[in-house]
Amino acid sequence: METLKAMQNRISTRNFSDAPVSKELVEKIVEGALYAPVGLKKYPELRLTVIENKELLARIDGDCRRVPDVSPLHGAPVLILVSSSTPDDALAHQNAACLVDHMLLRATDLGLANLYVKGICPFLDKNDALKEALHLPADFRPLASAAIGYAKDPVQKRETPQNDRTIVEYLQ
Ligand SMILES: Cc1cc2nc3c(=O)[nH]c(=O)nc-3n(C[C@H](O)[C@H](O)[C@H](O)COP(=O)(O)O)c2cc1C
Repeated sequence: METLKAMQNRISTRNFSDAPVSKELVEKIVEGALYAPVGLKKYPELRLTVIENKELLARIDGDCRRVPDVSPLHGAPVLILVSSSTPDDALAHQNAACLVDHMLLRATDLGLANLYVKGICPFLDKNDALKEALHLPADFRPLASAAIGYAKDPVQKRETPQNDRTIVEYLQ
């Protein structure tokens, strides 16, 4: 799939089926993240945690809710968490976002449904027991994640086919 096609087809999915994702596909998505641009080349200060363990997913889903009745993972069988030890908060977040966006596009290209999930991170960051269960070193902060799986219902067309609200100005 050409890059623009993947961009056009990427859409947030919030209704995953419980169909598992093969190891091969998960590894290809992770590979996508590892080609992302990284500010100041802070590669060793970024960490990817690939969570497929059902118990861990259920703990994250239950303990990291912004809205009590809404599952933040929406049933996704795979969550790839990006954490960082970069002290510069803005740089850490921007680097994490680049990795996540690469994974979402790669997942789309591979025919997998996906969702950018940031809402869980502040809750996860305060939950030492869960961070320990995820093997996160003390200096790494969870910043962003990609939920991956197969959509339960046929994937809808994007609500905004091409964003026409962001201001674009060409100066020539
Ligand atoms: C930085 C960032 C954080 C986001 N966090 C969440 C989140 O925690 N939960 C969620 O359901 N969607 C989250 N999203 C997805 C956005 O809501 C979604 O991209 C937006 O509504 C546009 O829809 P689209 O992805 O289908 O184009 C996030 C997106 C970005 C870029």
